Amino acid sequence: MLAVEYDVTPDGQIELVAGAFSQDSGKSRQAAKIYGIDEDRAYADFRQMMERERGRPDAIDFVTIVTPNHLHLPVARAAMEHGFHVMSDKPAAVNLAEALELQSVVEATGLLYGLTHTYTGYPLVREARRIVASGALGQIRRALVVYSQGWLSEQVEATGQKQASWRSDPAKSGMGGAIGDIGVHAFNLLEYVSGRRIAEICPSLSSSLPMRLLDDDCNVLLKLDNGAPGVLSVSQIAAGDRNRLTLDLYGEKGGLHWEQEDPNQLHLNWLHRPSETLHAAADYLTPPTRAAYRLPVGHPEGLIEAFANIYRDFAAAVRARATEPAAAMSDLVPGIEAGVRGMAFVQRAVEASRAGAGWVKFTI
Ligand SMILES: NC(=O)c1ccc[n+]([C@@H]2O[C@H](COP(=O)([O-])OP(=O)(O)OC[C@H]3O[C@@H](n4cnc5c(N)ncnc54)[C@H](O)[C@@H]3O)[C@@H](O)[C@H]2O)c1
Repeated sequence: MLAVEYDVTPDGQIELVAGAFSQDSGKSRQAAKIYGIDEDRAYADFRQMMERERGRPDAIDFVTIVTPNHLHLPVARAAMEHGFHVMSDKPAAVNLAEALELQSVVEATGLLYGLTHTYTGYPLVREARRIVASGALGQIRRALVVYSQGWLSEQVEATGQKQASWRSDPAKSGMGGAIGDIGVHAFNLLEYVSGRRIAEICPSLSSSLPMRLLDDDCNVLLKLDNGAPGVLSVSQIAAGDRNRLTLDLYGEKGGLHWEQEDPNQLHLNWLHRPSETLHAAADYLTPPTRAAYRLPVGHPEGLIEAFANIYRDFAAAVRARATEPAAAMSDLVPGIEAGVRGMAFVQRAVEASRAGAGWVKFTI
């Protein structure tokens, strides 16, 4: 619900005009009031919303999906079948079969589909991607991505806490626990910045608390498609950690380091010259990176603006479609391919870990 509760559209490009905010019609109307939406556009059911909106002269342009994972496919399918573009929260679905089904719907309708891998919206993540693509680091030889949280160190789901309850229920979360919730972010960030694809994995997933049905700690050895080794380590039982997402990529000439809790600095360490630290919004950055920052240098931006960058790029494609039916989405925005790859990662890692299979090829 994050993307709706906090306004992730500070650029005046997108207006929230309708929604199915809850299965309870009273709650949906209540939410609409808070968001300043006409009562007759507050729906209790997403299918009803698609049906009624399609018939309006001022119908919605796209649907944003911010529900638990098990609803991502049904809502996206209903939206696209009614002709609406879709921006979905990650993960794309609850398993690989569903993600592939979703891909068929996206391809059959030709509509736009974006996925909020939020960390790809940070200016310096985009700059890091550009630096790697420029060849400045040389061939990537080693990758390390860590996403470490501590909020599930205790049996929070037993207290009825909303976010923990659905995340620990396989029927709503899908086959992955921590790997589906934050492992997909780590996986996507690594592929997004490195420009490489993960080709083999050796996963070890575990659950540390007695009543927990899904994994809460995952350690995966990787091989990239150029043969480079890597490690992806994800946990939600790292007591005391908050949202420690870090990415290290090493090439032949140097490495880069970015961390989400200090997102407006990008560290470049060189083999034969002094290290550099880049600051978001500084005038030496490339124009696209600077355009992803709204404040003067030194004034912190963060998660909301990262969301906003993804939404703004998505909205630009939606707008372009009005005059150019084949207009494509910026490749800075993760789409259905990223969604399918993320779900394949969850499925392959869960299955291989359960089977004690060791190294397995990463196939879709
Ligand atoms: N991109 C990111 O960085 C990011 C961050 C957090 C969560 N997420 C994703 O966002 C999604 C939601 O997670 P959350 O933590 O905000 O969950 P949440 O429990 O806070 O919010 C989910 C909301 O969906 C509503 N809902 C459930 N069923 C519904 C239905 N049938 N119709 C209408 N509304 C319904 C619930 O009432 C609730 O308000 C998940 O898929 C999660 O993985 C993404």
